[in-house]
Amino acid sequence: MRVLVTGAAGYVGSVLVRALLREGYSVVGIDCLMFGGESLVGVCTDPDFDFFKGDIRERGLVESMVEKVDAVCHLAAIVGDPACAKQPDIARQTNWEASKMLFDICKEKRNIKRFVFASTCSNYGKMDDGKHVSEDSPLHPLSLYAELKVGFEKYLLESITREDFIPTALRFGTVHGLSPRMRFDLTVNEFVRELTLGKTLQVYGPQFWRPYIHIEDAARAYVCILKSEASKVDHNVFNVGDTSENYQKKMLVDELMKVIPGCCVEFLPKDNDPRDFKVDFSKIKRELDWTITKTVPRGMEEMHLALKSGLISDPYSPKYREI
Ligand SMILES: NC(=O)c1ccc[n+]([C@@H]2O[C@H](COP(=O)([O-])OP(=O)(O)OC[C@H]3O[C@@H](n4cnc5c(N)ncnc54)[C@H](O)[C@@H]3O)[C@@H](O)[C@H]2O)c1
Repeated sequence: MRVLVTGAAGYVGSVLVRALLREGYSVVGIDCLMFGGESLVGVCTDPDFDFFKGDIRERGLVESMVEKVDAVCHLAAIVGDPACAKQPDIARQTNWEASKMLFDICKEKRNIKRFVFASTCSNYGKMDDGKHVSEDSPLHPLSLYAELKVGFEKYLLESITREDFIPTALRFGTVHGLSPRMRFDLTVNEFVRELTLGKTLQVYGPQFWRPYIHIEDAARAYVCILKSEASKVDHNVFNVGDTSENYQKKMLVDELMKVIPGCCVEFLPKDNDPRDFKVDFSKIKRELDWTITKTVPRGMEEMHLALKSGLISDPYSPKYREI
């Protein structure tokens, strides 16, 4: 099977490309290289990998990419609340219009059998009364980012398609862990960076809950969907993670203290956080027999090691942030 990965050079995309190659897939990557392309240098000579620099908003390019493959993992996006708020027009064009165009082209091309979309648990917004939210819970998108994700997910799940075209949406928690394209604007990664480098970590609203997932498990989830029986994943949505991997920010600090004892943390009050929720991940385990392999503490240890050993020379570089 040949798989097109949009956003292939990104934080998750560059790990996913490698995971697919390891699993024996041929991979075609497309990315406009907003954050550079160094993340794919290590795989660009792999005979099973082709990379195209380009923008998914360009119809002609998308049509020619889709010709080459049997499945699509769609990750390219303006990512996160701040980046979408800063560039709302580009966010709408990419996360909604171009995504819809890509999906419609795939729907028409008989060679495309699978379409897997990178959605987010941010779609849930705040939880009611501290209860875990599941795939059936109402969605409360509280930012343009979440609104566009919810809109495209709905479009995908409600689409009428030919029988052998199988679209699936995956709602990921906040990703953590090492990638050839690092991001330090994600909670766990940022916390580990600050404390490994001896800074005082300021934590706003330590009581708020959020789910987290290791980047390698995020990549494994796409592979799981591509391999799953069509009837189990067709026009279906899965939260991707593990119910035990919901953490309050204070709990993240407690875990980090075990890795880096004696570090300095300042807790600052915050009354409201739109992304305060705990997620139930039992559906993916029950229906697809899929489980995580790495927890937050494991990801923290890996990140601490990489930073402590100086392998990331300038972890405060703006290239490690979305804006
Ligand atoms: N990282 C997380 O915590 C997380 C959580 C849930 C969902 N997601 C989703 O996973 C996907 C990947 O996120 P990420 O963390 O790797 O972000 P990222 O910003 O590192 O990767 C996105 C990639 O898409 C590319 N891109 C953006 N617009 C493009 C366009 N018009 N044409 C071609 N390429 C374009 C960028 O250059 C970038 O390399 C996104 O869809 C994101 O919404 C991420």
